[in-house]
Parts: sequence; structure tokens; C-alpha cells
Amino acid sequence: MSTAIQENAYNYKVVRQFTIATVIWGIVGMSVGVLIAAQLVWPDLNFDLPWTSFGRLRPLHTNAVIFAFGGSALFATSYYVVQRTSQTRLFSDSLAAFTFWGWQAVIVLAAITLPLGYTTTKEYAELEWPIAILLAVVWISYGVVFFGTIVKRKVSHIYVGNWFFGAFIVVTAMLHIVNHISIPVTFWKSYSAYAGATDALIQWWYGHNAVGFFLTTGFLGMMYYFVPKQAERPIYSYRLSIVHFWALITLYIWAGPHHLHYTALPDWAQSLGMVMSVILLAPSWGGMINGMMTLSGAWHKLRHDPILRFLVVSLAFYGMSTFEGPMMAIKTVNALSHYTDWTVGHVHAGALGWVAMVTIGSLYHLIPRLFGREQMFSTGLINAHFWLATIGTVLYIASMWVNGIMQGLMWRAVNSDGTLTYSFAEALSAGHYGYIVRMIGGAFFLGGMLLMAYNTWRTVRLTDHARVISDARIAEGAH
Ligand code: HEM
Ligand code: HEM
Repeated sequence: MSTAIQENAYNYKVVRQFTIATVIWGIVGMSVGVLIAAQLVWPDLNFDLPWTSFGRLRPLHTNAVIFAFGGSALFATSYYVVQRTSQTRLFSDSLAAFTFWGWQAVIVLAAITLPLGYTTTKEYAELEWPIAILLAVVWISYGVVFFGTIVKRKVSHIYVGNWFFGAFIVVTAMLHIVNHISIPVTFWKSYSAYAGATDALIQWWYGHNAVGFFLTTGFLGMMYYFVPKQAERPIYSYRLSIVHFWALITLYIWAGPHHLHYTALPDWAQSLGMVMSVILLAPSWGGMINGMMTLSGAWHKLRHDPILRFLVVSLAFYGMSTFEGPMMAIKTVNALSHYTDWTVGHVHAGALGWVAMVTIGSLYHLIPRLFGREQMFSTGLINAHFWLATIGTVLYIASMWVNGIMQGLMWRAVNSDGTLTYSFAEALSAGHYGYIVRMIGGAFFLGGMLLMAYNTWRTVRLTDHARVISDARIAEGAH
């Protein structure tokens, strides 16, 4: 099908908008990441101002990378995949446009209110009630567009990628609404409807499933479409993908209490969270293996195709972080890792290695198709991006492992008379070099994103002449 025909059959406009937003917000969110990493090396960078202090910029970073970068990527790819695999246009163009502008409005409001200090104080759910309500409305509209498209599909089958996207949309709505139930006292201040240990449990039921359904299930939907497409091979096992889906969504929802080990939460609930987390290794690796094995007979393509490399390395990091997570959920291991940089390293093994890499690989596949080009402007730049991202991720997580284990061991070291061997300040200063390495790793990753922005801009702006030639070639190759 030529691009012109596809343009009429499918709504690519909203996919293009979310795709460009992903690249822009990726750069913004990661720049704030590098800034807060630098603040941990040079505290003077807090500038003695409340708005630029680490405590306010950290939630700005997490909201920008998870919801603005990750969220825009999920909107873009799910809208693309659901149309292609259902062979129909989006359910409603105007509602889809509302989700784009509504989502951008939520992001801009977050970027203003968080540095001003307006926050619910619940991690990853910091946005105050007026913004949270807007977010809920946008999200429900997203659900209507997505499931409406599934209902009007022209093929009887629902592709497995859509199952993952669908679960991610439904569960995110449920988590967001339940965790945000609160009592507003002013326009910018509310208090949670829950109290004490219940509040903590609900928050980490939300927090862990934000990881499980937002940062994992949604991106698995992406993986199930773009890995087979880029490898030009069918998914390794369709049956495994179905088992993977049901096992993953059944188990994830119980694992939240592993964030509350050794707290006031009843012991049985902590143990349940631990056991469910350890079992979670099985479906996670089932999905990882299914993605990896899709490359059977296509491994040689890795030599020349940096896009496929992004996708395969993202699966490797997915496998690694979902091995590490269950280990950290074991109470005795968590006694060492909790509160240390090990957790931060684990987070970014998932966030940079898995979430960002699978997004970048998928977008490099998508961008030329959306803008009617044969391929990205420069494959060399994709390759350079791949190495910057891989080296950056490794520097980030290796330095945080060293820091984390060192901190854990220093905090628990005791002298023969029972006094602590190290003061807190000694453990803090021991981590200084690790923070420098992490900042350099982050700068590498950000550098790669800047190359992506340039490459995208050049791809979009290819001269009209080149566009005509490329359209003609696509039409020639159409069947
Ligand atoms: C089977 C899969 C996984 C399990 C069982 C798991 C388990 C854990 C555990 C035990 C912690 C530390 C809790 C603490 O000590 O406070 C943690 C933290 C975290 N993990 Fe995972 N993890 C998994 C996969 C992932 C993936 C793939 C990602 C990212 C894409 C991720 C993102 C996070 C985040 C963001 C936190 C930090 C939460 C916070 O304290 O703010 N996890 N995870
Ligand atoms: C250039 C890349 C990045 C850099 C330099 C960076 C840096 C940082 C820093 C310094 C922190 C604070 C750690 C602390 O409190 O000690 C942080 C936290 C966090 N970042 Fe990033 N980050 C980057 C990319 C990302 C991406 C792409 C994601 C998600 C998709 C992400 C998700 C998070 C999360 C969830 C936390 C909170 C971790 C926790 O509570 O344990 N980051 N990041």
C-alpha cells in the first residue's frame, strides 16, 4: 500500500504528533536526569533556590521520563499498531486529537506545578487533584479510542500486541483512580483518603503496577509488534505469548508489598509480595525468550541493522532487570539493597536498558514509515546512538551497583563493641566517584537522544525532490 493510500486508511497524524513529542520529552526528561545526577556530585547546582532543588526536580524527572516520554511513546505505538493489525482507522479522529492535546496539557501542568512544590507526595502520583482529574479524563478517552478501534476491526483475530496494550490501558486507569482518591482542601492541596499502612499499601500497589503495567506491559505490546516487523520473522511462539500475557497480568498485581519490607505492613503481606515477585521471574523470562527467539534464523541481521540491535539489547536488559527485581524482592536481599543506590541502578536497568531502548528501536522503525520515507536520514547516526545508549546504560547501572552494595555493607558494618564502623557521611562520600560515573553515563545516553532528534529532523525535512522519489519507490514496492 502506498503512503498516500495508507494516509487515507489510517490516522497517522496523531501517531506522528505523539512520535515527535516522544523525542522532545525524552530530551527534556533526560536533561533533568543529568542535572539531578550532577546535583548529587556538586550540591552547589541546587542554586539555593527552592524551585531548582533536587527534591523538586527529581519528581519532575520521573514524571517527564515516565509519563511524557514513555507515555507519548505508548500512545504513538499503540495507535499505530491497533490500526495496522485491525486494518481499520482509529475509532474517532477528534477524540484521538483530544488525547494528544490533553496529554500534552497534563505534562505542561506537571512541569509548572512540580518545581513550584505542589505535590501529593506520593511517588509517581505527585500531581495534585485538578491535574489528576484531567489525566483520568484523557486516559478514559484513550481507552475509548483504543477499544473502539478493536471493536470496529476488519479482521476477526486480535493481535497479541493489542492484548498487552489493552491490559496496560485498563489497569493504568484503575490504579490511577483508586490511588488518587483524596480530599481536596484547597485548589492545589489534597490529602489521601487512606491512612497509615493502608495508604502505604495502596500507594505501592499503584507504584509497583505503574512499573508492571505502564513500564512493562505497554512496552511488551510494542515489543510484540516491532521485533517481528524489524526482524521480518513471525513471533517465535504465539502460544507462549498467550501464556506470557495471562501469567504476567495475574501475578504482577500482587507484588507491590515488596516495596514495604520491614515496615508496619503485616508480615504476611510482605511475604506474599515476596513470593509473587519471585514467581514473576517465569512469565517475564517467557516473554523475553519469546522476543529473543523471534530472531532465530535472523541473527545475521544484527551485523548491519542497528535498529534490530536496539530491540535485542532492550530484551537483554528486560531479562536482566526482571531477574534482578525478584532477587531484590527476597527479604534478606532487600535488607541490603533497600534505601541504597542499588535500587536506583535496578530502576535504570529497566528504564534506560528496556523502556528507552525498545522505544528508540521502535521509533526508528516507525518514523520513516510515518513520513513517507524509505529509511531514516542516516543509519550511521542510528549506529552511533546505539553505542552511546548502550555504553551510557552500562556506566549508569554498574556505578550504582558498586555504590549500592558498598552503601549497604557500610551501613550494616559494626565494631566488636557494637558501635557502627562508619558514619552516614562516610558512606555518602564513598559514593562520590560512582555519582560522577553515573552522570557521565547519563550524558552519553542524552547525547544519543540528541543524535536521534537531529536524524528525525533531517528525515522529516528531506527535500521535496527526495520525497517524490521515495514515494515513487514505495509505490513501486507496494503490493
Ligand atoms: C519481575 C520483575 C521485577 C520485580 C520482581 C521487581 C522488583 C523490585 C524490587 C524488589 C524493588 C525494590 C523495592 C525497594 O526496596 O524499595 C524494585 C524497585 C523498582 N523497580 Fe523493579 N522489579 C521488576 C522489574 C522492573 C522493571 C522491568 C522496571 C522498569 C522498567 C522496574 C522498575 C522499578 C522501579 C521504578 C523501582 C523503584 C521504586 C521506588 O522505590 O521508587 N522494575 N523492583
Ligand atoms: C539520561 C538519562 C537519565 C539520567 C541521568 C537519570 C538520572 C536519575 C537520577 C539522578 C535519579 C535520582 C536518584 C536518586 O534519588 O538517588 C533518577 C531517578 C529515577 N529515574 Fe532517572 N535518569 C535517566 C533516565 C531515566 C528514564 C529514561 C527513566 C524512565 C523511563 C527514568 C526513571 C527514573 C525513576 C523511576 C527514578 C526514581 C528511582 C527510585 O525512586 O528509586 N530515568 N534518575
